[in-house]
Amino acid sequence: MKASLTKTELEEFPLLHRGKVRDIYEISENELLIVATDRISAFDCILPTPIPGKGQILTALSAFWFDFLSDITKHHLITANFEEMPENIRKHKELKGRSMIVKRTKIFPVECVVRGYLAGSGWKDYVSTGEICGHKLPAGLKESEKLPEPIFTPATKAQTGHDENISESEMAKIVGAEIAEKLKSLSLRIYDKASKYALQRGLILADTKFEFGMDETGEIILADEVLTPDSSRFWSLEEYKVGISPPSFDKQFVRDYLESIDWNKKMPAPELPSEIVEATLNRYLKAYEILTGKTLCLE
Ligand SMILES: Nc1ncnc2c1ncn2[C@@H]1O[C@H](COP(=O)(O)OP(=O)(O)O)[C@@H](O)[C@H]1O
Ligand SMILES: [Mg+2]
Repeated sequence: MKASLTKTELEEFPLLHRGKVRDIYEISENELLIVATDRISAFDCILPTPIPGKGQILTALSAFWFDFLSDITKHHLITANFEEMPENIRKHKELKGRSMIVKRTKIFPVECVVRGYLAGSGWKDYVSTGEICGHKLPAGLKESEKLPEPIFTPATKAQTGHDENISESEMAKIVGAEIAEKLKSLSLRIYDKASKYALQRGLILADTKFEFGMDETGEIILADEVLTPDSSRFWSLEEYKVGISPPSFDKQFVRDYLESIDWNKKMPAPELPSEIVEATLNRYLKAYEILTGKTLCLE
């Protein structure tokens, strides 16, 4: 098994944020370094066992999608190529393949979610109210059913706890009506292009989340990670069935394992056995291969 990176401690740069998976450093006034570690979370807990190589896969996938989507939207990625990074980053060899230098931007404080299928919190909202974020949906839809058309379902960016689904007019109060309309239209166009592409390759993009910011020219730029298994719900077309919650393409082995043992889903989370780690890594690699048509050589 390859070496894994669970946590970074770079002394040269201020650490701005440690997420569930990514460590974010300020490398200059205008640039950030986003390092995707091998941490994995399930049931909202970071697990003590890393998935060695996952950070590289997430980084390579985001880089692929930023390029794939560049005819639709500007993005924040400056480089994910380690050789192009300054020496004070390159000297940390463990960051190779898992680092992105990005343009720093003020992120709009809303999660731009697009749903093509009824799952997760969308399914829960539909069951209790018949709508999601103000979209009235036909009665009688089943869990995981394809929606008549993809819908934009924004959510607040909660500092702690769960993001809350909001309506488009609530979103307009937060970012302004004009920006809200632009973010919606961009999100739907990105979902349309990416979901059609993924489906041709045998993966359903059930839903996904984007984050956008604004650059100095006033243009909207796509930021954060994009269309990775961590920010999106991918299902295998073969395993897809209406009326159930289809297996998560990447995390199902982890979830099934954690459900099979006696754990109360509160921290501290238990270690994962090596066969679960290996199977999960293979799923992440598979997602990368299916989506990009390439194989990834883990460092
Ligand atoms: N270009 C950018 N400029 C500023 N902040 C960004 C940029 N891209 C991503 N971010 C922020 O980085 C943070 C990533 O942290 P988080 O989502 O907690 O990490 P994780 O996904 O690993 O849990 C988010 O708050 C996101 O808004
Ligand atoms: Mg995140």
